[in-house]
Amino acid sequence: MSGGQAERKFVLKEATRKRCKIIEADEKTLKRFKAVCLELFHYVREAEKIDFSLFFKLENEIIEFIKPRELSQELLENMWKAATRPGVDVDVFVLKSDYPKFEHVINSVRDKKIKKLVENDGTLDVKTLEVYSTLSTASQMIVRGGINNEVVRRATDATSSLVAAQIDSDVAAGTLSRMIESDATLYDHSASVAMIAAIIATSHLPKPLDEKGRSVVAQCGLYHDAGKSCVPNHVLNKPGMFSPEEFEIMKKHTIYGEQELSRAIQGGAPIDPLAARVAVEHHERFTGKGYPNQRKGRLEEHENGIHLYTRIVSIADVYSALLMKRVYKEALTSKEAIDLMKKVADDDFDPEIFNPFYQRIEATIELFKQREEEAAAKKSSVVMIDENESFSGALKDRK
Ligand SMILES: [Fe+2]
Ligand SMILES: [Fe+2]
Repeated sequence: MSGGQAERKFVLKEATRKRCKIIEADEKTLKRFKAVCLELFHYVREAEKIDFSLFFKLENEIIEFIKPRELSQELLENMWKAATRPGVDVDVFVLKSDYPKFEHVINSVRDKKIKKLVENDGTLDVKTLEVYSTLSTASQMIVRGGINNEVVRRATDATSSLVAAQIDSDVAAGTLSRMIESDATLYDHSASVAMIAAIIATSHLPKPLDEKGRSVVAQCGLYHDAGKSCVPNHVLNKPGMFSPEEFEIMKKHTIYGEQELSRAIQGGAPIDPLAARVAVEHHERFTGKGYPNQRKGRLEEHENGIHLYTRIVSIADVYSALLMKRVYKEALTSKEAIDLMKKVADDDFDPEIFNPFYQRIEATIELFKQREEEAAAKKSSVVMIDENESFSGALKDRK
């Protein structure tokens, strides 16, 4: 099957070859599979059971590594190690037809984690977490699955529920960052960006956007990295820093995003055209040091400027990324993230948006200190949630 055994950096153990079904990864076969991003693979590690197989692709072979009945922490650990080994191109796959089952596992693990957080931390806002959960489901579909009708429907529903929820901006911002600090595996980049962008659009602009504008900004946040679905997995899933070549590939997600979204819009998908614009512009910087087109300043003032919605999303994007721990960087607290952003703010962000943003985040940090003291005082009166109850039902009861 493979002539290049001697050159392989990663060779399957003989015992694995005997245990697993191995399929040749020709083009037709590959179309039946869908790659799983490593952030989601984390969730499977916390599932009690699965009703689909997990495969990994190694060069020109697809290996059915875990069948439902064989699920064990040991096999998951081996799979994780293989997928994160530097310099080796190993992708985790599920069958496309099983993807809904995979998603179901992810969603129920996420809901369980959130439920646990709410039980343990009285400062968190339940509504924010409910909305975040729906945004996160949509976000994962966008980055891994590309844009189709189902994805657009979920994204639109999620952003509408975000705007309709009318959550207090400070409470939402504080809950989001505290949730990420408490359980980093709940972090979802585009969901966080959508939420922070909506917060900025509601409360941090000289002229706040109306409901339609807030909903479009949230959509732009959710779709801003849509182009990552076109970036090869070995770059996208790389745990460490990018080489200069890999960084060049990664930068293209801006252009891919615009192309993907424009194609979907032309095909009739109900996505606001500004989402395509924000996707290509979101790494542009206020003084022109960004990419891919070195736009600068405000579009309202000149043709080569950056759109208002992009200036909002790019602040949300950087803030959200700083809150997350990566292999090559530690997670920052909200305060540390804001302090770091202040240092680059003159180059990177529109001061009319960034100044009120950081002032509100600083106020939020104070607000959550108070909520923490109040929650500590009330702790003894927290109602325990029945394990079998649904997440939303349980959360309603708690209020
Ligand atoms: Fe990006
Ligand atoms: Fe991003």
